[in-house]
Amino acid sequence: MKLICANFKMNLTTPILNIYLAAIDGKIKDNVIFFPSSLYLSMFKERGYQVGSQNISFKESGSITGDLSVIQLKEFGISHTIVGHSEMREYFNDSKHVKEKVNLALRNKVKVILCIGEKLEEYEKGKTIPVLKKELDKAIKSNLKLITNDNLIIAYEPIWAIGTGKIPTKEILDNTILEIKSYLKEQYNLNLKVLYGGSVNLDNIEELEKVDSIDGYLIGGASLNPEKFLSLINKVN
Ligand code: 13P
Repeated sequence: MKLICANFKMNLTTPILNIYLAAIDGKIKDNVIFFPSSLYLSMFKERGYQVGSQNISFKESGSITGDLSVIQLKEFGISHTIVGHSEMREYFNDSKHVKEKVNLALRNKVKVILCIGEKLEEYEKGKTIPVLKKELDKAIKSNLKLITNDNLIIAYEPIWAIGTGKIPTKEILDNTILEIKSYLKEQYNLNLKVLYGGSVNLDNIEELEKVDSIDGYLIGGASLNPEKFLSLINKVN
């Protein structure tokens, strides 16, 4: 079964989440992980769903106003955390902290969904692979001893595909994911799962399902409506 991660980003509030939870009741398999805003983690956890955090602090504790540490988040039952989402990289300069975040998560036995992806101009200039390799190196090189094939998952999210309705062609996507996998194998002797993220929706899921190299999905907008999300995940093998 493919892994499906629902990233709600900074969306949904308690009244809507109550409706959401009622709508999905009894219909979610254990290949699905929810990433709501941290405030709402327990609403999902107490109903038995797997939950993850959208981010963790680059420090374990201390004077960092406004941040949340992996230790605090673990109290709410997270099994996974996203690290290096392009929105965090853009607004919070997160590329600088990816290394520390991966380290903290893995040392605390929280699995990492590491987001990598190229900007539109990088894609257009044919620089996708070098950009992805650099992002992988930054996260992996110094943490290699902590990494297993099970505790680090890559999410390939082309930045130009996030929230735009555009996705790469099947051929380009398959090639890119195969390149990621062979680089990880050659450089680090790792066999990691690679998810695809970026405008996954009901209109393109059947096309994406034809890409053999995809091991799962990181879904933003299309996870916010429970009925649509259920239809979507029912189309995933
Ligand atoms: P969308 O599915 O809304 O394009 O978002 C993708 C994403 O950023 C998931 O992390």
